[in-house]
Amino acid sequence: MCGIIGYTGYSEARGILLKGLKSLEYRGYDSAGISVYHPDFKECLTTKCKGRVEDLEKKTSDIKGNTGIGHTRWATHGGVSDANSHPHKFGNVTVVHNGIIENYETIKNTLNIADKLKSETDSEIAAALIDRCFTGDPEEAIISAVKKLSGTYALAVMFDSIPDTIFAVRNVSPIVCCKNDDGAYIASDIMAIGGYSEDYFVLPEFSVAKITKDGFEIKDFRGGKMDVEMLKLDWDIKNSGKGGYPFYMEKEIMEQPQVIEKTVSSRVSAGMPDFSNDNVDDGIFEKCTAVSVIACGTAMHAGLIGKQLIESICSVPVSVHMASEFMYSNPIITDDTLVICVSQSGETIDTLEALKYAKSKGADTLSIVNVRGSSIARESDHVIYTDAGPEIAVASTKAYTTQVAVFYLITAKMAYLKGKLNQEGVADFIQELKKVPAAVQSVLDRRNEIHHLSGSMLTAEHAFMIGRGLDYPALLEASLKLKEISYIHSEAFASGELKHGTIALITGGTPVIALVTQQYLVSKQMSNIREVQSRGADVITFVRRSLKTEKFGNCFVLPELEDEFMLIPAVVSLQLLAYYVSSDKGLDVDKPRNLAKVVTVE
Ligand code: M6R
Repeated sequence: MCGIIGYTGYSEARGILLKGLKSLEYRGYDSAGISVYHPDFKECLTTKCKGRVEDLEKKTSDIKGNTGIGHTRWATHGGVSDANSHPHKFGNVTVVHNGIIENYETIKNTLNIADKLKSETDSEIAAALIDRCFTGDPEEAIISAVKKLSGTYALAVMFDSIPDTIFAVRNVSPIVCCKNDDGAYIASDIMAIGGYSEDYFVLPEFSVAKITKDGFEIKDFRGGKMDVEMLKLDWDIKNSGKGGYPFYMEKEIMEQPQVIEKTVSSRVSAGMPDFSNDNVDDGIFEKCTAVSVIACGTAMHAGLIGKQLIESICSVPVSVHMASEFMYSNPIITDDTLVICVSQSGETIDTLEALKYAKSKGADTLSIVNVRGSSIARESDHVIYTDAGPEIAVASTKAYTTQVAVFYLITAKMAYLKGKLNQEGVADFIQELKKVPAAVQSVLDRRNEIHHLSGSMLTAEHAFMIGRGLDYPALLEASLKLKEISYIHSEAFASGELKHGTIALITGGTPVIALVTQQYLVSKQMSNIREVQSRGADVITFVRRSLKTEKFGNCFVLPELEDEFMLIPAVVSLQLLAYYVSSDKGLDVDKPRNLAKVVTVE
């Protein structure tokens, strides 16, 4: 969703701001803009428009100045238009904003400024409020203004009367900061500024940063100076391009053997799961009598796999919650509940708010997060970082498989600590987990076969996916992939459930993807496949090698692993299916319509 960039220093700001906005494009946006302080005119000059950053680039070729802020907007309050794009200026003050100001109507009425506003946004109100509060001290003005705001915000602010200085403040929505010899940089996420320095910090909530070319001065809301915790970037941002692939999604699918291997190998010692490098104490797994997983979308689908693994192997009850519903559902949380939050970005606001709620109820909280230093990581008692590296495509692929890999490790650890598996049993489980990267690689090596199968889906409007046991939550994820990037309406069903209503939708030629990987369920799954075939469905089967018989027509043969581990190569093959359908339809695979990579509004 909305992205913020800011720079002040010795170089021309325009190029740095546009480059930053391009690296924030993946978050999802519909308009963009920049404001640069012009030393001759002694004011911030703004250019903004709906459309892509390239459109903005063409309109800003003559902009000069060394200090500026920029923004990519994902519309919430007010439609997609030039006027609603950021930055917004009111009087002396120019702002860019990420988040939602809930009481903007009240503030608008109190300030009596309805006739002076140029946009329909909540963000312009923040500019007006800061302008009204300004009597000479910028930090004081910002603090007294944001104290009147309810909602979430990350704001970068410039004053016409204070040259070459940017101010930043935040509540929930993140701002990261770094500096080098050329100046100081701020952004919504590290992808935009990680190329400038390996050392960065996250602006603490409820503090104001004054940013000049020499660096940062941070004050709390009482005016006291604050120290910040410096973090080290451990992603190779310079290698975060498409690597020769037409889309990030394909590159990220192809990286899965390496990132799964990396996520697992650093957490196995002497054949046993070991979270000591993560500083995660075994006690949380030993003590818990229940687990609640909280997440959204793909991350929640990883949690559904975790549920089946932990319940079946550790005999510990697991509930999986959509983060957006969690705190409104009177969840049962006790001191012995382990709450596991799962998030690629670590910034999904619903997950973050649910995490805070779970903590307030006394739960031990552990997060499985990809982005270092993100809000969810910092808010949790314990963190296990997936080693997926930057995931840019909106459709999550390698984040999911590494999240699932962490659930295997947690399951093995918990099973051992609770006496459900002995050392030998755990070592065998981990041994099988270590075979997953090679199995995934063998799917990737045969991706042309999947490309060939995908051809029959190009004109489909609807598709169904059916599977049993672990195949069912795996298909929930596969189905989300297909619909979000190919715009084919797709639904996944537990095969046995189909005839309780949905089978009415199966007619001649309806595409049905059937997954067959669970040995103990194969005969029942075969009956369900026959049920849809006899109603005319076009079935494509993804079947484990040892379960394949000549009865299968159109099929992709999956490599052989134990039942529990088959879902990873299965999901990877279905990620590829969705990818080929989308790219062959000529769609923008990496940036599907209406979607944002980082969902920072509730
Ligand atoms: O960053 P998160 O993992 O918290 O994001 C959660 C969902 O928004 C995300 O998994 C979404 O469903 C995927 N982009 C779908 O591919």
